[in-house]
Amino acid sequence: MTSERTQVAIIGGGPAGMFLSHVLHRHGIDSIVLERRTKAHVLGRIRAGVLEAGTVDLLRDYDLAERMDREGKPKDGTRIVWQGRPDFFIDVRRWTGRQMMAWGQTYITEDLYAARERDGGAIVDEAGDVALHDVESGNPSVSYTRDGVSHRIACDFVAGCDGFHGVSRQAIPDHMRREFERVYPFGWLGIMVEKPPLKDLIYAYHSDGMAMASQRNPMLSRYYVQAPVTDRIEDWPDERFWDTLLSRFPTEIAGRIESGPSIEKSMAPLRSFVSEPLRYGRLLLAGDAAHIVPPTGAKGLNLAFSDVHYLSRALRTYYEKGASHDIERYSDQALRRIWAAENLSWRLTKMLHVFPDEDPFDQRIRESDYDLLLTSESAQQALAHEYVGLPFED
Ligand code: APR
Ligand code: PHB
Repeated sequence: MTSERTQVAIIGGGPAGMFLSHVLHRHGIDSIVLERRTKAHVLGRIRAGVLEAGTVDLLRDYDLAERMDREGKPKDGTRIVWQGRPDFFIDVRRWTGRQMMAWGQTYITEDLYAARERDGGAIVDEAGDVALHDVESGNPSVSYTRDGVSHRIACDFVAGCDGFHGVSRQAIPDHMRREFERVYPFGWLGIMVEKPPLKDLIYAYHSDGMAMASQRNPMLSRYYVQAPVTDRIEDWPDERFWDTLLSRFPTEIAGRIESGPSIEKSMAPLRSFVSEPLRYGRLLLAGDAAHIVPPTGAKGLNLAFSDVHYLSRALRTYYEKGASHDIERYSDQALRRIWAAENLSWRLTKMLHVFPDEDPFDQRIRESDYDLLLTSESAQQALAHEYVGLPFED
């Protein structure tokens, strides 16, 4: 068994773990990232493509924004179209003075890997059997195997950034952990197509189900349709996908959508999930390891970045001032923003999707939610603030 030491052992090399490692490095705090999969696998995952204003600020603050500022598309908001009702624009620019950014989160992960490799960051890929030890003590450690060899890393803190299926969350004893969950009976079937996208990002409500138009770059579009979660990719040949998508948009918009052969197709189940607290002794959870949102609102990566913002600040206070108070309040502070995003994603999901067991009462409530948005400036303003992302707390 080999042994080494670092200040922060980070489990998981997704956006949360890699951003944490980058930020800590910028503040002179060293870390080792342990990732179970290969780098190629991590970078091959296709993720949502809208960034909150605060995420854009963080990327700029930490010199990760060059490609995004060159190739991403700033957006004033997102459109909702609704069968038989007027369109609505979530006018983030008007109500908050800020913009969002259409920029694929996969590109951010690529830029994070490039930055860490340029700075000589320690990233162990294909790390097997990762296990956490003594996180409730002052001397935690993490063990793993690679190529048949066992390794152990002694550290001051363990950052659990290993996503929903990771091991970190399980290191918090059951009686100390509380989980909150909603699962939805449908998923988002998404495709990528090499055709110019529509100018706007658009969510479409239709009595057959939701559809969405998004984008990655001037020659790459991303589209989704709500589909039963039990459907398989094989049930959705391209022709069926396009027929369904186009039937859910108003004719005028459908006429502008450029279809073509899909270059990627995947089904994402929808889930809302929060595990509290985010800290147990010297273990600190961030990102999908602690919470999942449905894709409606695209909050997943944005929340991971906001966790890392608070967490990295807490670790800086510890190393620079020798004070633990920010570590102690990390969980409560991050959870306020997490629950705000859970709330928005859940409300938007309920408003824009058709649920198999719903009745006419549910439908009238949905329509009245939308009508309130169409007519009430305070409702428009509130939604714009939530959609752009709440400000970070001091
Ligand atoms: N040991 C080491 N690594 C692990 C383990 C383990 N036992 N289990 C999981 N991992 C790795 C996964 O392989 C993955 O690369 O942890 C990483 C977790 O990454 P994500 O699942 O992407 O989670 P996170 O980094 O929190 O990303 C947050 O980014 O793209 C968005 O919407 C997406 O919500 C998601 C957000
Ligand atoms: C995407 O671009 O993939 C996307 C955009 C907005 C969402 C979800 C996904 O709400």
